Order: sequence, then structure tokens, then C-alpha cells
Amino acid sequence: MCTCHIGTTAARLDASWWRINCRSKALGTLLHSASRPLFAGERSWPRRLAAEPLPARCCGVAKRASAAGRPSTGDARTCLRLVQSESARILARAVPSRLSNPRIPTTITYLLAAAALVVAFFAPGLPPLPAPWLGGSLLPESLQLADARASAGVFSLILACWIFHYLRRAFEAAFIAHYKRARPIIESVGAPVHYGLFAVWVGWALRPDHGYVPPALALVVAGAAIFVAGEVGNFVCHLKLRNLRPDGGSHHVIPRGFLFEYVSCPHYFFEIASWVGFFLMTATTPVAAFLAATLITLFARANQAHRRYLEEFDGDEGREKYPTSRKALIPFVF
Ligand SMILES: NC(=O)c1ccc[n+]([C@@H]2O[C@H](COP(=O)([O-])OP(=O)(O)OC[C@H]3O[C@@H](n4cnc5c(N)ncnc54)[C@H](OP(=O)(O)O)[C@@H]3O)[C@@H](O)[C@H]2O)c1
Repeated sequence: MCTCHIGTTAARLDASWWRINCRSKALGTLLHSASRPLFAGERSWPRRLAAEPLPARCCGVAKRASAAGRPSTGDARTCLRLVQSESARILARAVPSRLSNPRIPTTITYLLAAAALVVAFFAPGLPPLPAPWLGGSLLPESLQLADARASAGVFSLILACWIFHYLRRAFEAAFIAHYKRARPIIESVGAPVHYGLFAVWVGWALRPDHGYVPPALALVVAGAAIFVAGEVGNFVCHLKLRNLRPDGGSHHVIPRGFLFEYVSCPHYFFEIASWVGFFLMTATTPVAAFLAATLITLFARANQAHRRYLEEFDGDEGREKYPTSRKALIPFVF
């Protein structure tokens, strides 16, 4: 029986019939050469490689070989070639160094976003942004906060929500996520620019000394409740994603439980909820623009991740079948 993982297939080939038929130590050499650490200080690459699933073609060859008792030399060679090319593919997409490991750039990006808003909110000498196109409230006066005594508390709440979100994301990037894939350099450079500029714009637009007035208390409270639900849900999703690979491999696993039963990317769903809530709490142009940019990015990402799941878990050759009722981002809808 072929279990379709590099480690077990390699062991089977090597121990039972590989050397007899091919007189080749190529597989052993391959696993040895692959044992260089993924990140500095890590030594578990061979174990991770062993947990990687093999492509269907390789499983087919290995199954045929096992059924025949001893494989033909052609079968064995084909299998080695496939194991090698699959290992090379995994090595190529794995995170090769600290520089392309998303952990550090992502953590820095989120810390920058938290700090940039505070700087723009308090920095002296900034001119007011023209309302409502660049700053100020989008709401009519009747829907703006009338109670001057609540004003200080509302501003503190708005700032606290933004800062909390980005400190949480920085904490998750630094300590929760087990990144195994390199992030494109364009993303590592583009993300801090994107988040930094938006944070400055939002902080600048929300300044009370420039005439910005927050929405009425009911809207602020409703927005804050949605925001908190989004933050809690997002954090739970990231904990679940972290626990998907207890063996330390870099393969993907079908996530189960919580909102993962309904959508492939519930962490993006909750992220969107947070920014819908934040928009209700602020009702200003830069937050609307930030929400729109987040929607576009996360719909595209969720769609991509969902398609990848459907391809990886197609139910063929003993692979798991991805739940067909599961959507990409919005339960029952998309
Ligand atoms: N998360 C958010 O709330 C959010 C919000 C706005 C924008 N974004 C952007 O979206 C991009 C990706 O975000 P992200 O890194 O937070 O989320 P992600 O790509 O879904 O991955 C988060 C972590 O979970 C792992 N993972 C995901 N699905 C898995 C599966 N099926 N099996 C095993 N492990 C799995 C990933 O491993 P691998 O390293 O192996 O992929 C990674 O370590 C980033 O550019 C980010 O800035 C994210």
C-alpha cells in the first residue's frame, strides 16, 4: 500500500527493493543533501520533507511496484525521478532564509501601522485635510456625536481599536504563525508602504483639532461590538491554523471546526468584520478606502486559497476530498 508521503515511500523503496533493483543510493543522497536547515537554527528539514505528500503519478508507480512484489527497474527509476522533482519543488518554495521568512517583515509592518496612526494623530503642525474627500466625517450632523462629554472616551476607543488590531497581528506574526512559505519580495516591500500610508491618512483624518466629529454613540457602540467579534474570531482562526501541522511539515491540511466548516478563509472574513466595525465607529473617507482595499485583497486571496484547496484535495489517488459545501470567504454565498 502506498501512503503517498515522501518519507514512507522513500523508506519502502529504499529498504525493500530499491537498492536491489537500481543499485542506486541516489534517494539517500537526496535526503541527506536536503537536510540543510530551512531557517537558521532549525534542524528538522528531513522530517518535514518526509511528511510531504507525493504527487499522484508517483503514488501510482509505487502502488504498482508494491503490488508486483518487486518493481521493475523502470518503475523504480520513474519513482525516484518523481520523488526528486517533488522534493526539488518543495525545496524551491520553502522559506530559504531569515530574509524571505515572512515573520520579521510582517511583524515590523504591523508595528509600523500601529505607530504611524499615533504619530499622525498627535503630530503638531499638520494642516486639516479637506472634508469629506480626504478627511472629516461622511455623516450628516444629525448622525454625529452630540455629547461632548463622551467625545474623549470615543476618541480613546477608536485609537485603542486600531492599535490593538495591529499589536495583535504583530504578536500573531511573531509568535503564533508557523510560516513555511516565502513571501514574494514585492509583498514584503509593498505591505509596509500600504499599511504605513493608510495609517497616516486615517490618523490625520481623525484629529479632533481639525474639526473631525465621530459618529453618534449608538453607531460607535455597534461598530465596536462588530470590531471585537472580528478580532476574537480572527485570533481563534490563527490559533487553529497554527495547530494544523503538529509534525512541523510544510504541507497543507484541511482545516476543520469553527467557521472553517463553512469557509476556507474565516480569518479573512473576521478581518473584514473588524474593518466594517471600525468604519461604523469612524465614518471617514480614509477608513472607507482602507475597507475597500481590504475587501478587494481578501476576496482575491480567499478565492486563490479556496482554488488551491480544491486542487490539492481532489479525492483522487487516496487524497482527501475537500468539503464541497465549503465556500471561500462568505458562508453560503462566496
Ligand atoms: N490574516 C489576516 O487577517 C490578513 C488580513 C489582511 C491581509 N492579510 C494578508 O494576506 C496574506 C496572508 O495572510 P496570513 O499569512 O495571515 O494568512 P495565511 O496565508 O492563511 O497563513 C497563515 C499561517 O497559516 C498557515 N496555513 C494556512 N492555511 C493552512 C493549511 N491549510 N494547512 C496548514 N497551514 C496553513 C500558513 O502556512 P504557510 O506559511 O505554509 O502558508 C501560515 O503560517 C498576507 O500578505 C497578509 O498581509 C492577512
